[in-house]
Amino acid sequence: MAQASEATIIDRPEQRFPLRLAPEIPQIRKLFHASAKNQWDPRTDIDWHLLDLSKYTEEQLLGAREYWSRRAWAEYGAISESPALQIRFCQDRLEPDLQLFFTIRSQEEARHAEACYLMAENLGGYIEEPFVSVYQSSVATHGVRKMALDPNLPLEATIAALVCGAEEIAFDVFKHLTEVATDPVAIQVVRAVMRDEVRHCAFGWAFMDHRIKSLTAKQIGEVEEAVIIMIRDVEMNGYHSAWLAPENPASAQEVRADRLTWEAGLGATVEELEIPVFIETVQRIRRRMLPWGFELPIFEHPKLGAF
Ligand SMILES: [Fe+2]
Ligand SMILES: [Fe+2]
Repeated sequence: MAQASEATIIDRPEQRFPLRLAPEIPQIRKLFHASAKNQWDPRTDIDWHLLDLSKYTEEQLLGAREYWSRRAWAEYGAISESPALQIRFCQDRLEPDLQLFFTIRSQEEARHAEACYLMAENLGGYIEEPFVSVYQSSVATHGVRKMALDPNLPLEATIAALVCGAEEIAFDVFKHLTEVATDPVAIQVVRAVMRDEVRHCAFGWAFMDHRIKSLTAKQIGEVEEAVIIMIRDVEMNGYHSAWLAPENPASAQEVRADRLTWEAGLGATVEELEIPVFIETVQRIRRRMLPWGFELPIFEHPKLGAF
């Protein structure tokens, strides 16, 4: 007989009242208001008519469709991690600012998926699933949904790993994409997504600054471990960038699609340009986490060296 699964926070009784709505973390409340003011619609706020497919070869278009479809799949992951965190905020009866911000954060992740989907559609058609899916299984998920619902893991570990680690890395790559893309529509899409992501990252640092002082040494150790796992085992295993993944037919296919997309100026980037971006981001994350009471170790990867 299968063993009963471990209890999650969903198994706990729910207590909603009294409702607390007054601001408790002003910085996060400000982010919520900024998000509410900066809503956009991928269907109408991107000048899709400026996308001129005649400039690109068939091969480049297929590569770019693959790349943008893959971006959409990654955003789908964010759409489901966001509500998992929202449940945690509610169940733990945390500051209302977190819940308010995450209602919009979830919407924003859905909007990113839609923007990426529309980009693929406009390039010739969204692709439903990977052409080769061997390596999907190894890095398709960073485990955040499970972490968010695990009562034994401090929420700070999940936010630090997901937001101050993974989302921070993703943001820097997006910023880099705005510099290497040349297609006007690709630039509009990455800029629009980036403007939301800057708030997502700011949320993580504000949350951690607010909480870190009340954590025990054991909890800080758990935060550190979660961040290390996210960087070393998820990011450096190709979660966001296929060239970091162990070589196999699936990652090779993705690397090819990325290069075609980058050559066309349609939004992706390539190993040689991304290496310094990745290293610099991780070094900055390490520096920013020093006041939390730990120093991330030196990481090593065959393509990145030790840094
Ligand atoms: Fe996103
Ligand atoms: Fe995000």
